[in-house]
Amino acid sequence: MSKQGAVIIKEYNIVIIGGGPGGYTAAIRAALKGAKVAVIEVDKLGGVCLNRGCIPSKALIASAVQYRKMKEADSFGIKLATPPVYDWSAMRARKDRIVGTLVGGIGQLFKSHGVEHYPGFGRVTGKNEVTVFHDDDKATRLKADSIIIATGSRAVSIPAFPIDGMRILSSDHLLELDGLPQSMLIIGAGVIGCEWACMLSMLDVKVTMVEMLKRALPMEDENTSKLMERELKKLKAPVHTDCKVEEVVPGPEGITGRLSNGKTVDANQVLVSVGRRFNTEEIGLDDIGIKLDKNGSIKVGPDTRTSVSNIFAIGDVAGESLLAYTAVHDGTVAVDNALGGEAKKNYMGVPSVIFTHPEVGSVGLQYSQAAEKYDVAVGRFPLRALGKAHAENEIAGEVMVLGDKKSDKLLGVHVVGIHAAEIVHTAALAINRGLTVSQLGSMIFGHPVISEALMEAAHDLHGMSVHLAKKR
Ligand code: NAI
Repeated sequence: MSKQGAVIIKEYNIVIIGGGPGGYTAAIRAALKGAKVAVIEVDKLGGVCLNRGCIPSKALIASAVQYRKMKEADSFGIKLATPPVYDWSAMRARKDRIVGTLVGGIGQLFKSHGVEHYPGFGRVTGKNEVTVFHDDDKATRLKADSIIIATGSRAVSIPAFPIDGMRILSSDHLLELDGLPQSMLIIGAGVIGCEWACMLSMLDVKVTMVEMLKRALPMEDENTSKLMERELKKLKAPVHTDCKVEEVVPGPEGITGRLSNGKTVDANQVLVSVGRRFNTEEIGLDDIGIKLDKNGSIKVGPDTRTSVSNIFAIGDVAGESLLAYTAVHDGTVAVDNALGGEAKKNYMGVPSVIFTHPEVGSVGLQYSQAAEKYDVAVGRFPLRALGKAHAENEIAGEVMVLGDKKSDKLLGVHVVGIHAAEIVHTAALAINRGLTVSQLGSMIFGHPVISEALMEAAHDLHGMSVHLAKKR
């Protein structure tokens, strides 16, 4: 069957382009609701999250944390016969095993739910039609009542330092390195930059970061950035903020980065982590009249419908939030609506979780955002005042709680510290359900747990934390 001679082989209720977290979960959900579903995926099922993002990076971060813990064995009363040594290839192999298991799991889930998987590149070729272009130049046409576009995003490359996979890398390349370099220049101190900076530093790589905005993790609260910059300093991974890399040239260690502040940084390799762009090319959007937003993402309404009403876009490619878990949420909305519902996206209380060392977890408004609308009260509790933090030897960080002085409404919670990415979910539920700061603080927390810092920070907002010295 050639491209020209493609025949319609099947009809579906929903055809989904993209088998990442948004696409594959939407497919299973639709199947659970009785729909006949197909998923087209050009690469491996699981998308960036499973294959090149969330899961592999967290597997490697877990290895780095273990290594760091072993280096601190003494402080736990353990004498190691010889200092710990890590084996990067073995760490990578562990990461690959985890990824393999999970990707295989999606295939199994598809089989069990009757979701049909088409390997190949999907292109919308009609309001009710998607064509799959296979590797062997053949094509298959699928008819669909509704189409969901879940094609995701990819790392941005900057012309001044084009990613070549040798000296200038994206995070995709880092995951597959044969060996770690001794030194790394990281351009962009956003989520990926900071996660990798912490991981590489824990694995003894000398890291220098450059961030064009005024602070590391500029998308988080200013207080979080301050705490994170302090921790990066402790890890000996300095950040040049308010600064750009003008150019990357060959240098004594491999490359030299010339910075806009006049300094130079020598390193073996460069990681470019300056954001992502949307995968909207070649998928037939123009032909069918699907409109894009100014930032190049697909324009959708709160119901995830594009400008063509039976075609939906979810996840990164819809531009509102570039997170695996909001893509999953978008998928539930798209499926409900494709099957006749009237669902709308609800991002109220979506946590942000960053796997730096220590972790970051935040939800709701940042201080500067809250101050625009409310008279803001702040409560803080440092982890060093917690028994469990001492037991774990992880006393860095704090919880900051923001509330409205007038109504006591909980506005935002910002956690830096061990398990922050888990702890923040209690706060996320509180914000999602519109609780007050007092309601959060009056919950009885287990003891000893790191989450107690949430309760204490909520009490501190009213000047009532019993584990803080009296304020004058
Ligand atoms: P990002 O948007 O988080 O950070 C990019 C940073 O690079 C920004 O701080 C930006 O100011 C800076 N930048 C841009 N151009 C620059 C230049 N020329 N010189 C210096 N700095 C420059 O993007 P990132 O880190 O690439 O992550 C991509 C996406 O993946 C994000 O949307 C993020 O939310 C998501 N992600 C989420 C994770 C999580 O939830 N734990 C983990 C990893 C990625």
